Amino acid sequence: MEAQLTQLKQEATEAIASVTTLDALEQLRVNYLGKKGQLSQILRGMGKLSPEERPRIGAIANEVKEALQQSLDQANHQLEKAQIAAQLAAETLDVTMPGVSRPLGRIHPLNSIIDRVIEIFLGLGYTVAEGPEIESDYYNFEALNTPPDHPARDMQDTFYLPHDQLLLRTHTSSVQIRYMEQHDPPIRVIAPGRVYRRDTVDATHSAVFHQVELLAIDRGLTFTDLKGTLKEFVRQMFGEDLPMRFRASYFPFTEPSAEVDVQWKGKWLEVLGCGMVDPNVLKAVGYDPEIYTGFAAGLGVERFAMVLHQFDDIRRLYSSDLRLLQQF
Ligand code: DAH
Repeated sequence: MEAQLTQLKQEATEAIASVTTLDALEQLRVNYLGKKGQLSQILRGMGKLSPEERPRIGAIANEVKEALQQSLDQANHQLEKAQIAAQLAAETLDVTMPGVSRPLGRIHPLNSIIDRVIEIFLGLGYTVAEGPEIESDYYNFEALNTPPDHPARDMQDTFYLPHDQLLLRTHTSSVQIRYMEQHDPPIRVIAPGRVYRRDTVDATHSAVFHQVELLAIDRGLTFTDLKGTLKEFVRQMFGEDLPMRFRASYFPFTEPSAEVDVQWKGKWLEVLGCGMVDPNVLKAVGYDPEIYTGFAAGLGVERFAMVLHQFDDIRRLYSSDLRLLQQF
């Protein structure tokens, strides 16, 4: 029995010394010192010993048990230390490593033009209004002094929905009517948004594009107010006082009407349409044209983007080509 104990001690000590994980160590503890472990099994033979032998063997067994427990504790301590060290090494933060680069998104040139226009008019006391892209014939044409047989409709053919005479709005001018129906003068609003035309797509035309509408209604507004407002707008938009000219034009919803050209880099560029709100439009929303007058304008966002950034083709604005978009 003494020999068994000595062998157990030797074997167990070696096994404990070579173990590399805490789990394996626990296995060893159960195997040697557990209730059904090897030591218990040997000690089960104690009953067969003579009374003189018993205390001696008992003392040896105790010594073996304590020695093994000590080895286990030591190994346990070492392995825990090693585990913590390994974890620390694995989780070390190397502050000199290059970071994970997260590319920043940026504002699309069309949106940044819209943002600039909004910014400028907010500064002039305007607020932003919105209207639906799916419109009725009434808001898009009729109330804007453009009855069904009006020749001006030819220039604004659009996409018609199968039901209820609905269409995709051809301009943001429809927001003028919607806004005036809901508010009393004085009015100062701009309405940015997407518009649609049944146009063949080419370098300067798109079936979907963007406009910003401008509307001011008050007592005593004149063409001079319109000119001054647009002059200030152009000054801020282009960053300098550019030569401007108002060319007589025609829109059903303004009288008189004008198109505005700006001289930039030696060329006259047409940038927007405008005019004094036609009395028929004021009547359509229940305003008295004898009391109120106003002016309106509509500008093409793509047009401004192309002029300011010198795009050669409107389609570049919709092609999601990162080589181009990353330049803004
Ligand atoms: N709605 C016109 C268009 O799309 C642009 C326009 C012209 C708007 C004159 C206006 C305006 O408000 O007064 O061609």
